[in-house]
This record gives sequence, structure tokens and C-alpha cells, in this order.
Amino acid sequence: MADLESNLLQTLNAQETIADSGELAKTLGVDHMVLVGTIRSLQASEMIVAEDIDHFRYALTEESQSYLTAGSPEAQVFDAVGPNGITMAELKAAVPGEAGDVGFKQAMQGKWLALDKSGGGEPRVVRKVESIEDRTQALLADVAAGRELAQSDAENLAKKRKLIKPEQWKTYKLTKGPKFALERKKPATDLTFDMVAKGTWRTQEFKEYNFNAMGQPPAGGHLHPLLKVRTQFRKIFTQMGFEEMPTNQYVESSFWNFDALFQPQQHPARDAHDTFFLTKPAATPSDRGVPGDYLQRVQSVHESGGYGSLGYGYSWKLADAEKNLLRTHTTAVSSRMLYKLANQPGGFKPAKYFSIDRVFRNEQVDRTHLAEFHQVEGLVCDRGLTLGDLIGVLNQFFSRLGLKKLRFKPAYNPYTEPSMEIFSYSEQLGKWMEVGNSGMFRPEMLRPMGLPEDVNVIAWGLSLERPTMILYGIDNIRDLFGHRVSLSMVRKNPLCRLGL
Ligand code: PHE
Repeated sequence: MADLESNLLQTLNAQETIADSGELAKTLGVDHMVLVGTIRSLQASEMIVAEDIDHFRYALTEESQSYLTAGSPEAQVFDAVGPNGITMAELKAAVPGEAGDVGFKQAMQGKWLALDKSGGGEPRVVRKVESIEDRTQALLADVAAGRELAQSDAENLAKKRKLIKPEQWKTYKLTKGPKFALERKKPATDLTFDMVAKGTWRTQEFKEYNFNAMGQPPAGGHLHPLLKVRTQFRKIFTQMGFEEMPTNQYVESSFWNFDALFQPQQHPARDAHDTFFLTKPAATPSDRGVPGDYLQRVQSVHESGGYGSLGYGYSWKLADAEKNLLRTHTTAVSSRMLYKLANQPGGFKPAKYFSIDRVFRNEQVDRTHLAEFHQVEGLVCDRGLTLGDLIGVLNQFFSRLGLKKLRFKPAYNPYTEPSMEIFSYSEQLGKWMEVGNSGMFRPEMLRPMGLPEDVNVIAWGLSLERPTMILYGIDNIRDLFGHRVSLSMVRKNPLCRLGL
């Protein structure tokens, strides 16, 4: 289109005026509509002035096009009747359809034909004149050739017979505008150092700001599926009257992550192969947040038992308990909270807590394992709780997730007894799937904290990733979390509704 623009500008420069853009379009061999695009844009930059020229003409309709060669309907009917006349039925067959009807009417009105009923039988259509002049066809030919019609003829053909239609269009008379130039100067969008240094900013034209332009849609600020599922879990817990525990501390001492949970210091999970230990700072001095008497009770329950337990019978080392690590489970948070609950002013009060946050394990990463993932954990701490309460709460909780059929399998955790793995029947996959782990916290964990003897804690945990992958149809955990995650997945993932 740049060619067209410069062509137009050159022509205007040479002639001072372009009398009719329609003519120019013809000479340039382009569609007038295309030229109008160029005219409008040059007009907007005040390089040219365009004045409207209104045009009007009649054009043939599709129907009348055929009458140009075949003759008008009335002429066709006159021809068909012939010198000897024919019956109405014969005429209908000879000139079928609307042309026949209209032609007959016109020929009768023009007194070209008559109806002869003298034969007695079926009336015959007969000629009243010997020959006719097809004026309608001649007028249509005038229109096709662009010749003007007399007003009465034009009105008759356009309004009564609808054989021609009016057409209106605009072309333009073009003259030079106040900013006429042979080439368009592109207005600058920015003031540059160069313009200031050379002083060209004085004459430089600048593009105006468009304060009404729409902004770019933000590329960020979308919720990751894990966050959506977390919100749903939160809703379920809060609806069930659970309170969220503070989970903002990724670094824990081994004490809260393991020792307080009666997990022996030789336990394989406490190996560097399974747990990320910190080198800086490598340890949390045990006097920070852990009162000496509680520390003592934990040491003694590990070494020699108590509260009906034999203990592990090994020599417990304070240094191991002080080692810093990235928490391997959110149960580290639960143990802190239970200690607080036992020692709060006013004494123990029942509580229902939950947490949903990140944990870390030194694991080989594969389709189903990550070194950091999220745990969902719930616990109820009250007097006289039983395994029946745990099963009841689990049924309530999981049925809100839409998992209504549960089975339990005995399991082992160092800090719970009894312990149960939770299975749910998946209608979709037609099999039982593990959905979580649960148990009743051991007295070896609760009693050293100072919780009364009749207080039990039922608790359960599951990962946030597993249900999220099922809900969003993601089969590789690395597509959900980490550097392989596609940003468009984060942008486009749908709403999450649990339990539907
Ligand atoms: N902490 C356990 C885990 O990491 C889950 C669990 C929580 C088990 C509470 C029992 C009770 O798998």
C-alpha cells in the first residue's frame, strides 16, 4: 500500500487537485475501496483534504439482466402467442413462472393482446397488434450502458416493476492538506537523547499519547492448581471447625521434627540420604524454645521409656536433636502446637488443628516423587478419643472430598499407635488407592509434653500433589511443580471444586 500512497501523493503534487478519486482508482487499476483506505489515513495526518462527491445511478437486478438478451417478459409473451393465438395453459408452458404472469399482465395493459372467448370453449389469447417494439428491453439496455433514463421511466422500472435498483456511492475530490509532503513523516513515539543533543526535537513531530488504549493483559498473577486445591482443603477443614496451624518455618530442629515424635535417633529417616540437614546454621541450641524439663522427659522416654513404655534403650544425644533440617513432614508443626496446647495458661483445652504446607525429603525425583512437596495434615486433641473417633472423622473429611468409600490397613509410624493407611475406592480407575496415612499419637510423644493422661490425639496426613494431579489430569508430578511446569498450564487451569 506504500506504493499506492506515494502514487497518490505524486499525482496530487503534479496536478494540485485530483478531481475524482474514482477516476484515479481506474487509472491506477485498484479497487476504489482500497484507495479510500489510503485517502482516509492521509486525511487523518492532514496531508490531504478530501471532499465528498456523491454518486447515484441505477443498476440492473439479477432478474432484469436476463431480459437484456431474452427480451422483456411482455415481449416474450407476445412472441409466444404468435399470429394464431394460444390457450392460457399453452402460454403458461411457453413462458413459465413470474415472467409469464408479469409479461401477460403488461401485454394486456399495453393492449398488445386480448382474450378471445368467441370459440365457445376455452378462451384463447390472441394478438391485437401485428408487431411490437420492446421498449422495456431498450430501457434496460440504456441502464446497462450507463445512460440516464427519463424520470418517469426510471420510477416505473425501479418502483413498480423492480427491474432496476438505485446505487449510491462516494468518491472524493482531493487537494493538498496543510501537512502535505511527498513522503509521510513518521511521528516519533519517544524523545531520544539524540533529539535533545541535536536540537531536532524542536521540529520533530511526536505521536500523541492514546490514553484510551487498552493495557496489555498481565502475564502473571494466576493461581497455580496446588493453590486452588489448597483453598478447597482449607474450606473443608474450616467448615469442620479446624483451626490452621502456623507453618511458616521450613527449617526445624531435629527435636521437633523427630525427637519430640518419639522417632529414635538411629531411625533411617534421620539419615542424610532421606533428610536435608542444614550446614549453616547447623544447629539450634536446645535452650531455644524447649524448656529443660521437657527435654529431659524426651531423653528419658527414648532411653528408658515410661508411661507404660519400655523406650528404645539407647543413649540419646542432645547434639543430634539440635541438628537443623528442612522439615520432612508437617507433623513437626503439630508437635510444636501440641506442646503449646499442653502448656498454655489456664491448662489444656481440646483443639482441632490443620496445616497445609511444604515439606522436604532427600529423594530421587521421578514421575511421582519430588524432593519438596506439600502435606495436608489434620488433628484432633481431646479427652477420651478412640480409634472409632479417628475412623469417623476420616469418613467425614474424605467424603467432603468426594471419596465416600474408605478402607483402613494397619501400618507403622514411630509416633502413632495404632496407625492406619487410608485407601479409597476409585470408581474411575476401578481399584483401591492409597489416599493417606493416619493414627493415634503415642503416649511416649504426648505425655512428656505434659498433656493429661486421658487426652488422646487422632491425626492424619496426605499429600496435596496427589489429589491435585488426579483433579487436573496431570500424570507426571514434574509437570505440576518445578522448573518443567508450563506457564500456560498455570495461566489456563480451571477452577477447582472438590467433592462434586
Ligand atoms: N507425618 C506422616 C507422613 O509424613 C503423616 C501422618 C500424620 C501420619 C499424622 C499419622 C498421623 O506421612
